[in-house]
Amino acid sequence: MSQRETWATRAGFILAAVGSAVGLGNIWQFPFKTSEYGGATFLVVYLVAALGIGLPAMLAEFVIGRKSNLNAISAFERLGHRNWKWVGVLGVGIGFWILSYYSVVGGWVLRYIGGSLTGAYFADPASYFGSVSAGLDALVLHAVFMLLVVAIVAGGVEDGIERATKLMVPSIVVILGALAVWVFTLSGASPGYVYFLSPDLSQLSLSVSFDPFPSFSGPLTNVIPFAVSQAFFSLSLGMGAMITYASYVGEDQSLFGDSITVVVLNSAVGVLAGLVVIPLLFVQGVEPGSGGAGALFISLATAFAELPAGRLVGAVFFAVVLIAALSSAISLLEVVTSYVVDTYGARRPRVAAVLGGLIFLLGTPSAWDTAWLTWFDTLAYQLLLPLSVLGVLLFAGWVYGRPAVAELLSGSSFGQGVGVTWLWLARTVVILAVLLTLWLGIQTLFVDGAIVPPL
Ligand code: PHE
Repeated sequence: MSQRETWATRAGFILAAVGSAVGLGNIWQFPFKTSEYGGATFLVVYLVAALGIGLPAMLAEFVIGRKSNLNAISAFERLGHRNWKWVGVLGVGIGFWILSYYSVVGGWVLRYIGGSLTGAYFADPASYFGSVSAGLDALVLHAVFMLLVVAIVAGGVEDGIERATKLMVPSIVVILGALAVWVFTLSGASPGYVYFLSPDLSQLSLSVSFDPFPSFSGPLTNVIPFAVSQAFFSLSLGMGAMITYASYVGEDQSLFGDSITVVVLNSAVGVLAGLVVIPLLFVQGVEPGSGGAGALFISLATAFAELPAGRLVGAVFFAVVLIAALSSAISLLEVVTSYVVDTYGARRPRVAAVLGGLIFLLGTPSAWDTAWLTWFDTLAYQLLLPLSVLGVLLFAGWVYGRPAVAELLSGSSFGQGVGVTWLWLARTVVILAVLLTLWLGIQTLFVDGAIVPPL
């Protein structure tokens, strides 16, 4: 086995973890899912889930990664629990699955950089999205995006990933912030803020009956699986990414502090994107929920068409989104690559290229027809992500247990009490919340028939 790399600096790890977390999940998916599944209600559930489930689950992944110093699959073996390898396998598989369509959306972003510069979408943003989001165009750009990802991962941890993410977060915050201020000045935006920011308390209810299986009803049944999984997706959990990144971290670093930074920054970027996209949808008279996967692209394109210097602003904006998407996609490919490199000692560039090719193939249906993209995405949200996070929590909480607390506290100034509290929360309420999410997700998948592929 070759010598394992580590992050050059402490900031390197945080930046890479934030780079993995902040991506299309925040800028593209969060606003459109929020406008589709309940506005402020979605926001509340998402924020509660990010802090209440995401944070403890992220700590669990960090512990597994740093203690084992290995990739997301071998980690379980190294910690002495071969039988739990499936959690790692599941995570790596989900990473594969998700990257396949993530890359298609990454291709759309590439397209929109060019489209902004030339003003190609200015005349009719909606039909422009329709014509570039599927078919041959989308396929070619999906390939280009995947090539970029492979090229960076091939370069290795320090040179490739660390460097690529350094400028991204500040630029995203600045550009989104400026856009949010501009949107605020538009007339017709205020119902958008109400929809996004003021929760209707009557919508925050869920009731259960047993006959003999639990059956849930109430407004939250639909919101929970999407909003909780949105938190997982957005925080890069359940895909081995945080396990893998933490495996390059030293024992002198506080995992607690780092995870809080990641959760807070990540949610902030999502909310900021929501503050831009959702009021814009209202300004443009788009009904909440009808924007779909194109919501970000169509609403922003319409805005850039009207802005002074819209071509430049648009191109810069989509360039930043591209960097965010790349730094997330890199971490997904890195998970699988690091497993193959660690286990078979194969050469990193070749491994990255072969895996990238396979992921490209898996993504071809999604590039061809957005109905496939939606299907891949729904399955990931309603089933795969909660299942995988459940596996991580069961392992860290119940199987690994006490040693996890020691590992968690190593390098931090927190006392034993904090570690033990984490352990007990992870073992109980957090696991129950994930079980509920999974149950509701499965209910919609099978009852609503979302499981049927769009053949
Ligand atoms: N968190 C990333 C986003 O929000 C997606 C991602 C998930 C990246 C899992 C890596 C691992 O876009």
